[in-house]
Amino acid sequence: MRRPMVAGNWKMHGTRASVAELIEGLYKQSLPGSVDIAVMPPSLFTCQVVEGLKATSIIVGAQDAAIQAEQGALTGEVASSQLADAGCKLVLVGHSERRQLIGEQDDVLNKKFAAIQAKGLTPVLCVGETLEERKAGQTLEVVGRQLDSVIAEFGVNALVNAVIAYEPVWAIGTGLTASPQEAQEVHAAIRAQLAKENAEVAQGVRLLYGGSVKAANAVELFSMPDIDGGLIGGASLNADEFGAICRAA
Ligand code: PGA
Repeated sequence: MRRPMVAGNWKMHGTRASVAELIEGLYKQSLPGSVDIAVMPPSLFTCQVVEGLKATSIIVGAQDAAIQAEQGALTGEVASSQLADAGCKLVLVGHSERRQLIGEQDDVLNKKFAAIQAKGLTPVLCVGETLEERKAGQTLEVVGRQLDSVIAEFGVNALVNAVIAYEPVWAIGTGLTASPQEAQEVHAAIRAQLAKENAEVAQGVRLLYGGSVKAANAVELFSMPDIDGGLIGGASLNADEFGAICRAA
């Protein structure tokens, strides 16, 4: 059985004061012990959040890491060694906002993936198609290609210590959610693609759905057989809403 995971991606939101408030709000939630729960603040707030949540079981993650694992001369970046030192356990790789708005491509993403794992952190590899790609019937091909880039470089066993998040780009921050059936179809295809390489890895890896998940749609999404939890953007900025989503997993 795969242990469910719900991770909150705070994106580029927050001030020290609002982060303190959110931490306080998270303390008020009754969170299920059967779910891995994570929050991913902007790196700037990592220490504040790790310190603030230390009396909880909530895991702290990061939204990005540098292409090299060790600290060094790389202006503006944060190394996975530094994230690990600060108490992070998970790091997003390949979020569509970084692929599309920053222009990160497979070679860069693969370096980040390796750097994250090199420091014992767990990469959360994000994949997903745009609306045009879905309309053109290319969803499975696009997602398959994004996944293949990592498998081709590191082998399928690299996914044993990773999480995969399927996030259709058209559903992110738009209020449009993939239906549970649409999401399940892609999740099943991802698992089938992994199973072709290694059935055990395919059965063990957690596949999260992301894209306008809210308390109101989480139960249905999380009840699908290949959806093992969620990557939550907007709704993770509200502690009550995030708590309710965690309880749905
Ligand atoms: P959203 O974002 O929940 O605000 O749609 C999800 C994500 O980008 O991880």
